[in-house]
Formats: sequence, C-alpha cells, structure tokens
Amino acid sequence: MKRIFSRILSGIQPSGQLHLGNYAGAIRQFIELQHEYEMYIFVASYHALTSSRDPEALRQSSRQVVIDYLAFGLDPKKVNIYLQQDVPGVTELAWLLSCVCPKHLMDKATSYKDKVAKGLNATVGLYTYPILQAADILSVNADMVPIGEDQVQHMEITRDLAQKFNHIYGEVFKLPSYRLQEGAGVVPGIDGRKMSKSYGNTIDPFLPEKKLRKTIMKIVTDSTSVEDSKDPAACTVYQIFSAIAGSQDPRTTALAERYRAGGMGYGQAKQDLFELILEHFADARERREGLMADPGYVDQVLRDGAAAAGKQVAQMVQRAREAVGL
Ligand code: ADP
Ligand code: TRP
Repeated sequence: MKRIFSRILSGIQPSGQLHLGNYAGAIRQFIELQHEYEMYIFVASYHALTSSRDPEALRQSSRQVVIDYLAFGLDPKKVNIYLQQDVPGVTELAWLLSCVCPKHLMDKATSYKDKVAKGLNATVGLYTYPILQAADILSVNADMVPIGEDQVQHMEITRDLAQKFNHIYGEVFKLPSYRLQEGAGVVPGIDGRKMSKSYGNTIDPFLPEKKLRKTIMKIVTDSTSVEDSKDPAACTVYQIFSAIAGSQDPRTTALAERYRAGGMGYGQAKQDLFELILEHFADARERREGLMADPGYVDQVLRDGAAAAGKQVAQMVQRAREAVGL
C-alpha cells in the first residue's frame, strides 16, 4: 500500500481520566497508525491550563494520560510520547504565529464561544488556544493529524496560519492534512449524551471490577419490558458495545439479534458489556498496574519522547526565526 502520510501528530488535553469515548474516538486509531507512520503523541498540558486551576490535579492527570496511553498499547519504541511543556520551542513558535494571525481568525473560532458558554473563564489563553494548537502541529512539521470532528476548525486555522506565514516570509511550513476517526461516531455516556469528562457520564475502562460493573449498571435505558423486542440502535448499552467490539463483530451482531428477538432485559445487555470491557481491556489493565509501579520507566519514555520531538521542533523554530529576521 502506498504511503500518503509519513509523520503524524496528535494530542489530548489532560483534563481528567481518559474514557471509552477517548479510546474509541482517538486512542485506538493512534495504536493502529503507530505501525505505519512516524508518530508524535503529546499531552496538551498548556492547553489544559485554559481550564485547570488545580496544579496537583494537572500534574497527576498529565502523568496518568501518559500511563494510560502506554497501557492502551502505544509502543514508545514506535511513538514519541511527550509532555507539551517539555518541548518549549512550541510556545516560541506560537508567538511567531500569533504575530501573523489576523484577529478575526480567532473571533470566528467556535470552540472559544462554546467553552465560555460552558462556564470556562474567558481568558486570552482560551481565546488564542488555536494558535498554540497550530504551533504544536507545525513545529514538528506533521503531515497529518488524526482528530475528532470538534477539531476540524482548529485544523483549518492551522492551515490558514501556515499559509499566511508562508505568504509573508516564504515557504517554511507545509500544510498538514487531517483525518477524522473513521466509523467511531460519537460514543454515548451512561446518561445517553456524548461521553465527555465535562458531563461526568464517562466509563473509565481501568476502574476496579466492582466499580466498573456498578457504572455500567447505571447506564440509562428505556422502559421496554424484558419480553418485548428492542431496537439496538436506540440503546446506549448497545451503542457502547458496538463502539468497542466493532459494529461488524459477530458478538455485536449477535447482541443486536437478541435485542430484536425479545426476551432479553437491559440488565443482561449490561452484563455482556461489562464482560466485553473486561476482556477487551484485560491486557491494558494488567499493563497499567505494571506502569503505575514503575515511575522510572515512564520518566524515561517522556525523556526520550521530548528529545525526539525537541529535535524536530528546534529545526522548525530555527527556520521560522530566520524567516522572520531573528
Ligand atoms: P472530553 O469531551 O471527554 O473532554 P476531549 O475533548 O479531551 O474529551 O477529546 C479527546 C479526544 O477523544 C478527541 O479526539 C475526541 O474527538 C475524542 N472523543 C472524546 N469524547 C468522545 C466520544 N464520546 N466519542 C468519540 N470520540 C470522543
Ligand atoms: N484541542 C485538542 C482537543 O481538545 C487537543 C490538542 C492540542 C491537539 N493540540 C493539538 C490535537 C494538536 C491535535 C493536534 O482535543
């Protein structure tokens, strides 16, 4: 198969414990791509400062995201994993980009308005968030960025900024493309809305068994009785099952059959989902235990990742500095 992209970058904000939505929508794709491409996956801790006010929680969840990336199956021999603050050239580039960024480009960014509407502080950092994101991407000269749908506008802004910079100073940046998570859709949370840290409706696949089961049993379902035929597509339990096992997996199609046939209660479907999660994440759960007990290894992964990313970033920042006359 012909390789279209060679270098991939993506990041995730350490704003809380990762959940099944993050896994199905983002991380699973990273794990698949790592075998084919040069990858840079980082923890967007500077971005998280637009919402975090708790230093200890930020430190903890930044580290936890790395541990969980590794537990889910990112292989540090193949992927450069780093914390945003360990590659400070990125923020320098963000400044250079902000000096060519027309203000109206930020004014039209919808994520700022959405986040302020959700209650985040209306800070300058939140307002210029997309410029820092562009710097993340352009500073490693990434060809492609796997993202969720909510990030499309940020990618367009990234391309606009690269173009704007190139137009003024000559060809420094290539225009990165992006890829939406194929077929992942939006994984619903236990209340049926989009699974999201900010809704408190997530399922953490690393929960201890008892708590995991309890969380799954709380998934909201309708009041169709056990005997009646049920529509799998309308049920949150089935949707989550399908997102993890895959919609074409025989276990998923068999579950759909049992929904339609009637005679199966939602409690049974939940039990099936619980067992699926334990099975699907058995290796990840075990690896995580080991990683939690080996902080030295995690430190080493982060040092190696920052060194590799730092090399790319230093080159790009140098080119950008020269281009602007520094
Ligand atoms: P959250 O909404 O929990 O704060 P983020 O916005 O940090 O999650 O998302 C991180 C990544 O996970 C993004 O690529 C996003 O598209 C993906 N993602 C988050 N929630 C879901 C979901 N419910 N279904 C599918 N993908 C999701
Ligand atoms: N804004 C992204 C999110 O909320 C996180 C992010 C920061 C990112 N920088 C990035 C994603 C660069 C991809 C590339 O999910």
